[in-house]
Amino acid sequence: MTATTTAPRSLVIDGISVLVTNAPDLGAGPLGEIADAAIVIADGRVAWAGPAGVAPAADVRVDAAGRSVIPGFVDSHTHLVFAGDRGAEFAARMSGAPYQAGGIRSTVAATRAASDADLLATAVRLYREARAQGTTTCEVKSGYGLTVADEERMLRIAARLTEEVTFLGAHVVPPEYADDPAGYVDLVTGPMLDACAPHARWIDVFCERGAFDEAASRRVLLAGRERGLAARVHGNQLGTGPGVRLAVEVGAASVDHCTHLTAADVAALADAASDGSGTVATLLPGVDFATRQPYPDARALLDAGVPVALASDCNPGSCFTSSIPFCIALAVREMRMTPREALYAATAGGARALRRTDVGHLGVGARADLVLLDAPDPVYLAYRPGVPLVAAVWQDGELVSG
Ligand code: NIG
Ligand code: FE
Repeated sequence: MTATTTAPRSLVIDGISVLVTNAPDLGAGPLGEIADAAIVIADGRVAWAGPAGVAPAADVRVDAAGRSVIPGFVDSHTHLVFAGDRGAEFAARMSGAPYQAGGIRSTVAATRAASDADLLATAVRLYREARAQGTTTCEVKSGYGLTVADEERMLRIAARLTEEVTFLGAHVVPPEYADDPAGYVDLVTGPMLDACAPHARWIDVFCERGAFDEAASRRVLLAGRERGLAARVHGNQLGTGPGVRLAVEVGAASVDHCTHLTAADVAALADAASDGSGTVATLLPGVDFATRQPYPDARALLDAGVPVALASDCNPGSCFTSSIPFCIALAVREMRMTPREALYAATAGGARALRRTDVGHLGVGARADLVLLDAPDPVYLAYRPGVPLVAAVWQDGELVSG
């Protein structure tokens, strides 16, 4: 393969066996697929996509040589800013210990003790690791600082990596507030939000037994909204509860985990989806894998018309993978999503969960974020699990991996 390391003025990739655009006007089916295709990118955007035989010329040509091209993955849920290691906790879980939200506090202690430089170095390493596996848009949360200063510096570090920065001061109640959880909610919704809102686009809360109850979660989300932050929710991870319905009530962009859903939760998400907006159900199968939980009922959600996203939740506790291909393989094998449904959820679904229209597809004008797979068809992402299939990654039209 020939390619430059900086963005050429225009680039054509041809010889593509299957080009998935997620733009139904450009190709067949809901994923807008084009066989024997080419794509032209210019100035960081998709300029043209169609059959290879009629592709316009460009300054630089890359021959995909019968391999497939897909949109870059949109990982709408990660916790890449942290310090410390919880490998021993994982090993204990694999021997039967349950996952508990309290494990988060060990990462909080390590993160508070770490320098900005060390936190940034870890986050950059994980960001690049994800990108080499096809992730071209990545949300990053705070949530392991839990003091005003530590949450603020986490967000500043996250903002070095991405524009999709989420304030998660309401991750758990830190030890120094163990006897005064209401006081911690006052801190999060007051001085912490004042310091953090300027650095974030989103506000998130862990609405779960052992973390924040419905009333506290609502307070957090509404306070964030008053400061211009849009809502997302960690909900229904460890058991059924109010998370999904609260997310729908406040018009959250996404409710993430959804491992334990009632029929009423699915109906609430489906009702909200029927007007075309609604809350995305973001499924994180790597967490269910690494915590030995059941997998979410993706079929119930999809069959009810709920928009679904797949994300990694990359974090040191509940799921330490940055690999969206791994999550796709799990979604197909364990959640009975079709390979195309899983691919769509990890690209267009993630974009919808972040309310982005410029990524997650390869329609004309989209950001030129694309992945060349060492595979004749994207079904290989699930068909060949664990195999490094990402041959090259372009982000903003620039070759960043491969
Ligand atoms: O998304 N559920 C809450 N927070 C993270 C876990 C963080 C941790 O265990 O450190 C999650 O799974
Ligand atoms: Fe999370």
